[in-house]
Amino acid sequence: MSRLDRAYNIGDLRKLAYKRLPPPIFHYIDGGADDEWTMRRNASAFQRYEIIPDVLSDVSKLKTATTLFGQPIARPLMLAPTGLNRMFHEDAEHAVTRATAKHGLLFGLSTIGTIRLEEVAEQFVGPKVFQVYIFKDRGLTAEFVARCKAAGYHGLALTVDTPVAGNRERDRVHGLSLPPRLTLRSMLSFALHPGWSLPALTGKKFDFANVSHRVDALAGTSMSVVEYMGSQFDRSLTWKDVEWLAREWGGPLAIKGVMSPEDAKRSIESGASGVMISNHGGRQLDGAPAPVDQVAAVRDALGDGPDVICEGGVRRGSDIFKALALGATACSIGRPYLYGLAAGGEAGVDRALTLLTEEFDRTMMLAGVNDVAAIERRHVRVVA
Ligand code: FNR
Ligand code: LAC
Repeated sequence: MSRLDRAYNIGDLRKLAYKRLPPPIFHYIDGGADDEWTMRRNASAFQRYEIIPDVLSDVSKLKTATTLFGQPIARPLMLAPTGLNRMFHEDAEHAVTRATAKHGLLFGLSTIGTIRLEEVAEQFVGPKVFQVYIFKDRGLTAEFVARCKAAGYHGLALTVDTPVAGNRERDRVHGLSLPPRLTLRSMLSFALHPGWSLPALTGKKFDFANVSHRVDALAGTSMSVVEYMGSQFDRSLTWKDVEWLAREWGGPLAIKGVMSPEDAKRSIESGASGVMISNHGGRQLDGAPAPVDQVAAVRDALGDGPDVICEGGVRRGSDIFKALALGATACSIGRPYLYGLAAGGEAGVDRALTLLTEEFDRTMMLAGVNDVAAIERRHVRVVA
């Protein structure tokens, strides 16, 4: 039995990632903003809900398939866009998309991913969205829109919760820099994690593949993620800019980082087709509510049509069931698959997705619901 087969849940994969990664890299993935209150709450909020099962309802056949960004997917789950994947495993986004394809799920590629969006699209024909920012340089955003159309992306996710970088204290404590810098201290931590450092330091040069041709600031320098983010974001953005992007793109568009029913409505009024209820995994505004607690109000505000994606804190298949019962179309996961990626590349991501999808299917059967479309609000209740 391999190490991965002995990971029985996402928490076990996290432990494997901890062993394999040098501390600065592990804590970059694992950490959140300030006191990490929101980050912890994203996950613990799911435990506020109990599942009320139906019994004797023929669960011999399950219909788990649904539609997201207009695309059919095998289960109501997507892989959230996350940057810097090559730092976590040498196979980077390719490891993630291969596992995503195997499970028939939807993949989100980050603007600060480490493989060019065109190369990702060549290797992965499945449903995919590209995560964009509206940069100070609107030309760069327009360029992404054009490249995504040409490469056949099915949707865009516009991240709106980063007018300024969150305060990631673990990054400061551990001195994360990009690209990984060979200081005496980091050399020691890399030497203690040979499984990670050899491929990461000798493999393809680390690069923000999608933006490096435009980001002069990064040429030949090393800067912290926080500095990078801070230098790129336009703090003057408003809903007018969403209208502009929606027109420019003309396809499925989700606003990523919406928390309130009011903003969810404005998203749709501004031309979006859906929202990702998200606080960036607790990495931005500490104090923001848990996404799962906002799902019902957002769904009530939007009615049946738009995609509502619950993102943050999903660690069990039963969490997906609860979010759907409250009104979500699907859930989105970040750290769960990144722990897998760090633990074992494609096989590790595969393990993470196998665990979550098996847990989800089992929850459906035990809850007595044989079709995702039949998961209703009456199936959950806030614990008294
Ligand atoms: C992220 N996230 C993120 N979001 C985004 O819009 N662009 C990005 O480049 C990144 N990068 C990124 C890196 C890492 C290491 C993490 C953990 C997260 C946020 C991500 O899309 C998602 O909102 C959260 O990961 C969801 O929370 P969970 O599933 O990690 O709890
Ligand atoms: C983060 C950025 C990359 O959360 O979105 O680290």
